[in-house]
Amino acid sequence: MQIFNKNSDLKLFLDSVREKNNEIALVPTMGGLHDGHLSLVERAKELTKIVVVSIFVNPTQFARGEDFDDYPNTFDDDKLLLESKNVDVLFLPSKKEIYPHGTLTDYKVGDIGQILCGAFRPTHFDGVAQVVKRFFEIVEPNYAVFGEKDFQQLLIIKSLVKNLDLDITIESMPTIREDDGLAMSTRNQYLSNEDRERVLSFYRVLSNTEHSIQNGISVLSAKEDAIKSLSREFEVEYLEVLDANNLTQIQTNTSEIIIISAIRFGGTRLIDNIVFKRKDDV
Ligand code: PAJ
Repeated sequence: MQIFNKNSDLKLFLDSVREKNNEIALVPTMGGLHDGHLSLVERAKELTKIVVVSIFVNPTQFARGEDFDDYPNTFDDDKLLLESKNVDVLFLPSKKEIYPHGTLTDYKVGDIGQILCGAFRPTHFDGVAQVVKRFFEIVEPNYAVFGEKDFQQLLIIKSLVKNLDLDITIESMPTIREDDGLAMSTRNQYLSNEDRERVLSFYRVLSNTEHSIQNGISVLSAKEDAIKSLSREFEVEYLEVLDANNLTQIQTNTSEIIIISAIRFGGTRLIDNIVFKRKDDV
């Protein structure tokens, strides 16, 4: 695995890859890698010969008071994991490489960045779009792979590619979970053993909500029940049942439904979602 810190060195290498008519897949990450990240790497390996993984904790997607300074850094383990997956390139840029002219951005995500997580983290998705756009400029990948765990982020990146008319195919992979159902997340490291046990009811409530809807309970009462259950144990930022295509209200022609939620618990913020095909009219 080659490691690059500088855009110019990475670009030289990637130009030689392109000269040989090889395609490139990019997996952007912030490190603290787990099996969720590795599933994206495996998909990238299936798609192209050359896979670039980036690790960069992007300051512009954190608001003041969030965990930017404490974000887990497990670099030695990350490197071994990426080597074990035969990743070709690890890109580890400094802030100066990514933002040589400062962090002001003119790309605005728009309405889809203001709802759900965006309502609680108003500057977050503009920061995500800004850094992903930079990675796309530097790496010029044919493919980029993202996780459905961050479903709103995934839709925002798809819309970025469309708005800027980029020739990049966005691939997504389902959420990888621990054996007990908890969605893998770098931030799960923040949970104490006791909180780790209690937080299991987050996924359980989402699963039960899916079950209820598939069994004919109305979306509205399923949603109200879910919020009631979650609120007994957690601070619920939001829980919505929406059209998974565009995160808008369910219509009669909605074919895929998403139950999507963010909670706070013991100082940690967790997000999760379940996407499922609608059985009948709900
Ligand atoms: P990070 O949280 O490190 O996640 C990197 C990628 O891994 C994202 O596409 C995310 O959706 C995916 N991922 C995380 N947990 C997952 C899980 N349990 N199963 C499947 N995929 C999972 O998301 C970011 O970083 C940043 O916002 C980034 C896109 C890198 C921009 O800074």
